[in-house]
Amino acid sequence: MSDNLLELTRLESKIAADRSLPLLQSNLVFGEGNPDCEAMFVGEAPGMNEDRLRRPFVGRGGQLLDEMMKSIGWRRGDVYITNIVKRRPPENRDPLPKEIEAYKPYLTRQIEIIKPKIIITLGRFAMNYFLPEAKIMRDHGNIFKSENYLIFPVLHPAAALRSPQKMMFLLKEDFKKLPNILKGDLVPEIITSAVSIGPARIAKPTPEKEKQQGLF
Ligand code: URA
Repeated sequence: MSDNLLELTRLESKIAADRSLPLLQSNLVFGEGNPDCEAMFVGEAPGMNEDRLRRPFVGRGGQLLDEMMKSIGWRRGDVYITNIVKRRPPENRDPLPKEIEAYKPYLTRQIEIIKPKIIITLGRFAMNYFLPEAKIMRDHGNIFKSENYLIFPVLHPAAALRSPQKMMFLLKEDFKKLPNILKGDLVPEIITSAVSIGPARIAKPTPEKEKQQGLF
């Protein structure tokens, strides 16, 4: 087992045991893929299919993501895929700022462990997590450089499915750039002061005894 895989497995046990997190009524969808990859995909939050199978991007949007990867010669197993929020919000509503904040230490730690060269954000929520000022229709397909990695926002596959002609075209065009970015043939246009993804601080779980005492 690689060191990264071991660390990710430990982190997954930690998040599974963290009862302070919101959305505990849904299943944990931690993330999956190659722990030693160069490219990490980050989406918004699991949907119904993801919740059921406990895997990210396995619905129609996920199939499109797989097709996009295939079109540039990548396979799902080569990359790592996760979300900013790791449990499904009820009725697929947008994640709330406090939910995004609560799951942040875990995504931060996943990034710290994997150390990807590039983070590809899928959709507006994931983009704004890293680039709070960015606008999806203006900034998708641009390469941003933050301290330790590149950030490449693309449209959410579900948006492309809703509006196949325009959005699908844009998504395909953006994906085509990815191999060249990794080769270093395409360089960042924008140096960003994206949110610092500083060291992950995960609170120690409160021992059960103290929790019980706190009830009285
Ligand atoms: N949409 C997301 O943002 N993430 C998933 O895992 C599935 C759909």
